[in-house]
Amino acid sequence: MIQFISNTWSVYITVLTLISIAGCAILLKSQSKQRKRREGGAPEVTGHKWDDTLEEYNNPLPRWWMALFYITIVFGLGYLLLYPGLGSYAGLLGWSSHGQYETEKAAAEALSKPLYDKFAQVDIPTLARNAEAHGMGERLFLNNCAQCHGSDGGGRPGFPNLRDNDWLYGGTPEAIVETITQGRQAMMPAWGDQLGPEGVRKVANYVLSLSGSRHDAALAAEGKTTFETLCAACHGPAGTGNPAFGAPNLTDHVWLYGNGSEKDIVQTITQGRNGRMPSHAGVLTPEKIHLLAAYVYGLSH
Ligand code: HEC
Ligand code: HEC
Repeated sequence: MIQFISNTWSVYITVLTLISIAGCAILLKSQSKQRKRREGGAPEVTGHKWDDTLEEYNNPLPRWWMALFYITIVFGLGYLLLYPGLGSYAGLLGWSSHGQYETEKAAAEALSKPLYDKFAQVDIPTLARNAEAHGMGERLFLNNCAQCHGSDGGGRPGFPNLRDNDWLYGGTPEAIVETITQGRQAMMPAWGDQLGPEGVRKVANYVLSLSGSRHDAALAAEGKTTFETLCAACHGPAGTGNPAFGAPNLTDHVWLYGNGSEKDIVQTITQGRNGRMPSHAGVLTPEKIHLLAAYVYGLSH
């Protein structure tokens, strides 16, 4: 739909366009007249002179040339009658770029629907080994997911790597489908105010000790109780994580935020983290999500 804020613009554009076309026609007409001839029958000259001898005749353009211009004007008027162009007038054919897009999209979907329907019957682990499904899943991934997870699904800080076997929300086919369909909202609270910089450093060192990373043992020992009271509810008493909250496993060397340095962990605990995976329920059909889930599943299996 063509939308103008007020009708004034529509009228303005229509009038301007029609005046311009009429102007072209008048100009052509005025230039098609044969000028009066000079004495002796020689055509009128423009006054341009070269080498003292060469003069330019003021003759009209050749007829066939003029005719082309007139045809252009008639074509233009015909076009403006049939297609949108005059302000908000939609044209006799009712064509719009949006309408054309919708028609082409519907045609493309009708073409691929049988294929999607066929794949929808296949369970995800089997589908993950199907080369054709892999190709289609990859294209969907590049269009919808790569901007956050990377074109190879390798992720980057804050956006999980989908190629490894470390899952925030579980790596079963059902969990992946649920993640893509409903989206996920992580809730890691900020502890900076409550614990203060020293308290944060202590518990951060305890977190480092969980994965056997380099840490200060004395600080870690002091942070242990804090972890058990404040953090274990989500990350588990041993720090192995909980897919129900998307709370990461802190005992491995896979880090969602940064590379597991004390600085990164202190920042996470101080400020909190709220990673959000958007819901794709309204964006992708269930058949497409099924195919995508198989592609994601295949990245790590
Ligand atoms: C706007 C960025 C964004 C887009 C687009 C996006 N994701 Fe995510 N995705 C995230 C974030 C952030 C998380 C982690 C959420 C968290 O921190 O708990 C995530 C988590 C996931 C997870 C869970 C990983 C785990 O370890 O459990 C899967 C699976 C996933 N995304 C797949 C996809 C697929 C498939 C698409 C394309 C349809 C997609 N994502 C599109 C940002 C995005
Ligand atoms: C309410 C549940 C909850 C509590 C309580 C909680 N966390 Fe978290 N934590 C999470 C979630 C969820 C994430 C993932 C955040 C994201 O995906 O954006 C996370 C992420 C982290 C990370 C980053 C891991 C990585 O791979 O980069 C660290 C470190 C961490 N938490 C430590 C702690 C510590 C220490 C405490 C206690 C002081 C704590 N958490 C308390 C839910 C919680």
